[in-house]
Amino acid sequence: MKCKITNYKLKPFMSFGKMPIANGFLSKKNFKNEFFYKLEVGFSKKLSLFQINNHPKPSQMFNKNYPFFSGSSKGMINHFRKFSKWIKKNYGRKLNNLVEIGSNDGTFLKNFQKDKTNVVGFEPSKNVADFAVKKGIKTINKFFTFNNVKRLKKLKNQIDIICAANVICHVPNLKSLIKGMDFLLNENGLFIFEEPYLGSMYKKVSYDQIYDEHIFIFSVSSVKKIFNLFGFYLIDVIPQKTHGGSMRYVISRNNKVKKSVKKYLSIEKKSNVDNFKGCKKFKLNCEKSKKDLVSKIKKLKKQNKKIAGYAATSKSTTILNYCNLGCESIDYICDTTKEKIGKFSPKKHIPIKSMNYFYNNLPDVAFLFAWNHKKEIFKKEKKFQKKGQWIAHVKL
Ligand code: TYD
Repeated sequence: MKCKITNYKLKPFMSFGKMPIANGFLSKKNFKNEFFYKLEVGFSKKLSLFQINNHPKPSQMFNKNYPFFSGSSKGMINHFRKFSKWIKKNYGRKLNNLVEIGSNDGTFLKNFQKDKTNVVGFEPSKNVADFAVKKGIKTINKFFTFNNVKRLKKLKNQIDIICAANVICHVPNLKSLIKGMDFLLNENGLFIFEEPYLGSMYKKVSYDQIYDEHIFIFSVSSVKKIFNLFGFYLIDVIPQKTHGGSMRYVISRNNKVKKSVKKYLSIEKKSNVDNFKGCKKFKLNCEKSKKDLVSKIKKLKKQNKKIAGYAATSKSTTILNYCNLGCESIDYICDTTKEKIGKFSPKKHIPIKSMNYFYNNLPDVAFLFAWNHKKEIFKKEKKFQKKGQWIAHVKL
């Protein structure tokens, strides 16, 4: 098992078994062609980097049928509005050109539409890219690789800020991405990105963050080490509540590093987020979490409780397949995304239903797969809450 950036040997320490594509919600006619791979995780001691091995090709995941729309959550719309405000407040004075990597349906870039800033998004999944273009957001329907970026000669060293949210952990060839970023950014340019945070995943035992799209689960230690290899510095980090705990990273060519970086490096050292001990503990915690969840569901089924899944998230694919829970336990999963409704969950083939179906067939128990959107969901599901019970594999 080798790290894609440096060829340092990695130590695999855990397997989640045979997995389907996490966002591969499928129709009955495609059951027989379903793609599987072995989901294993390893840790690069040199880079303090947590990563999966043997991921499917990016084009197998991000294509014309990608069913994830950033705008499907009000919470995320709000978050992206705040993120853009934060950028304007802190770095807005000379913000002429901004690029977003993985711009999805344009939810983030939309916040710059009224400004003088020129914005352009890179988005490889055609359906979501088309959606953004329809909203008037300039979008290049390509992966952000050095080969694709270097063709944009006019933009060389012209970009003030490159942003990304929940995207960089999806990119297997970080070297090509960083070279592309280096090509575009001007001398004082910044790369600002946020990703699910390894420290939060360890704390919450939210192993469902691990799936084909999330090749890396970053920490402050790993991001610092990776970018130092390419002559960039991690100058600031800001924790975020999104996705059950994320971190925003600010990368620059100058080394005026803020105190926050030192603070988090020290926290990570103390809590073994920067070393292999943390992995070993996490593995044991996952095994315990699986045992507890399976016995909780068994108990509920013995009491004849009807259980439905709430939100057909990519994360739910890891939970259901790692814990071997299928239609015998979960009757259906409701979701708001029209691209998922009427399809079936990857590998376990649990039917995905509309929200109307949920309201007409209220279960006794709802398994909150979108636990990271708990606040938003609990607020709107008061009726279910009166009678029903929420459960999750993490503490709610
Ligand atoms: P999210 O946790 O953002 O995604 P993922 O694990 O896939 O990265 O959840 C997005 C999914 O949750 C998407 O299919 C829409 C669904 N969803 C609902 O069905 N209802 C809701 O209220 C919310 C917030 C999300």
